[in-house]
Amino acid sequence: FGRELTVLSKTDSTQTEAEKKAHEGAIEGTLVVAEEQTSGRGRQGRPWHSPPGLGVWMSAVLRPEGPLTAVPQLTLLTAVAVCRAIRVVSGVEAGIKWPNDLLADGRKLCGILLEAVVEDGRVRHCIMGIGIDANLSESDYPEELRSKVTSLRRESGVEVDRSALIAAVMNEFEMLYGLYNERGFEPIRLLWESLSVTLGREIVVRDLKGERRGIAHGLGEQGELMMRTEQGEIIPVYSGDIELYPG
Ligand code: BTN
Repeated sequence: FGRELTVLSKTDSTQTEAEKKAHEGAIEGTLVVAEEQTSGRGRQGRPWHSPPGLGVWMSAVLRPEGPLTAVPQLTLLTAVAVCRAIRVVSGVEAGIKWPNDLLADGRKLCGILLEAVVEDGRVRHCIMGIGIDANLSESDYPEELRSKVTSLRRESGVEVDRSALIAAVMNEFEMLYGLYNERGFEPIRLLWESLSVTLGREIVVRDLKGERRGIAHGLGEQGELMMRTEQGEIIPVYSGDIELYPG
C-alpha cells in the first residue's frame, strides 16, 4: 500500500482522483495524497474541511475479493489501522467512535469514508478515504466546528510529521488487511473493541427508523453495533450516526 503514490498540491477530492485511477485499472494500494482539497467530502454528503498543508487528506484503491457485506468491515478495519498509526506516531491516545470516527478527548480528529463501486452485485473496487487533522489549530476551522474537533498537534503539543503518519497508516493497514484476508473479521473485531470509546456508553442512534436510545454493547460479526435498548433487548444497528452522551 502506498507504493504507487501520487501527491497533488490541490485537488477537489482525493476520492475522485483515486476513483479515476481505479477506473483506469490502478492496482490495489494505489494512493493519492493532496495538500489541499477544495471539495473534500465526508460521510452522508457532508463536506470535509481540508485546508492546505496541515492535514493528511488521502485516498487508496482497494480491490477486495469478498462480497458486498465486507465493505462495512473494511471501514472498521481502516479505523483500527489509523488509530494504531496515530498512537505510534504522535502518542495521542485516539479512540474509535462507531463506526469509524477517531476521537481524542471526545472531539473528532479523523474521519474515514469508504466508497464502493458495485457491479452485478459484486464490489468492483473501493476507495478508502482518510482525513486526519494533523497540524490544524483552532483558528483553521470554521467557527461552527471548533467545539467538536481537535488535531494531533493540539492534543500532543508538537507538530506531527505527516509523511511518517502516512507511512505508518499504510503499514498498519497492510498488516491488518493481510490478517483479515487470512483469518476473517474476528481478530479485527476484537482489536476494534479494544480501541473503542463507544462501548458501555449511553448512545442515541439516528437513522431511517428515527431515533433510538440505548447502551452500546459490542460489535457484531458483520461490523454492526449491538445496542442494549431501555427494554433490555440487544438489537443490531447497521448504519446511521450515533451520539455519545458525556461521561
Ligand atoms: C467523515 O468523517 O465524514 C469522513 C471524512 C473523510 C475525509 C477524507 S479526506 C481524504 C478523502 N477525500 C475526501 O474527499 N474525503 C476523504
